[in-house]
Amino acid sequence: MLGPFRMNVLEMDLPTRRATVHLGQYLARTLERGSLVILDGPLGAGKTFLVRALCRELGLPSREPVTSPTFTLVQEYSLAVRLLHADLYRLGHPDEVFELGLEDARREGAALIVEWGKPYVQELGGDALLVELVPPGVSRPRRASLSATGAQSRRQLERFEAALAVAGSRAHRGLAQRVI
Ligand SMILES: Nc1ncnc2c1ncn2[C@@H]1O[C@H](COP(=O)(O)OP(=O)(O)OP(=O)(O)O)[C@@H](O)[C@H]1O
Ligand SMILES: [Mg+2]
Repeated sequence: MLGPFRMNVLEMDLPTRRATVHLGQYLARTLERGSLVILDGPLGAGKTFLVRALCRELGLPSREPVTSPTFTLVQEYSLAVRLLHADLYRLGHPDEVFELGLEDARREGAALIVEWGKPYVQELGGDALLVELVPPGVSRPRRASLSATGAQSRRQLERFEAALAVAGSRAHRGLAQRVI
């Protein structure tokens, strides 16, 4: 339970790749039809690494690679939920998002996970779970910050928090979380 105060931002340290894998695994369990997850953070922040862990958790066989769809822009994975992985780094204009048909696919039930999608949340249908990955600094580890921009994503964030709570101390081996 989140108590009387609504959670706005959930932050966690990702000191190891294993911690990021755990984050991907927990996120995978929160996806539903029409989910929109935006991955933000600079080049090499770990966005694709996170998507890979999420896909593996959903049963994607290891022979199927998960890479940044920087040139193809959209990669589809046939999993229990139809999952579209996009990388909008190369987009120059919001109109180009419509041409990719991502919002339509979402409306038809696909879940979207989008690298470099923060400027295009509205074009993707709004209501996004925003996952910001922050590279490590001189004296602090790599970090993730999760926030929701609408009702559906807020419920997703609550499911994420609940999944962590169920996992209990196991989760805290790798994921130290702070609710802001
Ligand atoms: N804790 C960590 N979490 C995620 N990645 C890590 C971590 N520590 C090291 N790495 C490494 O950082 C790299 C992240 O690369 P990745 O391709 O996921 O970045 P990206 O954010 O998708 O970049 P781009 O914007 O170019 O697509 C990987 O090689 C990964 O092995
Ligand atoms: Mg990437």
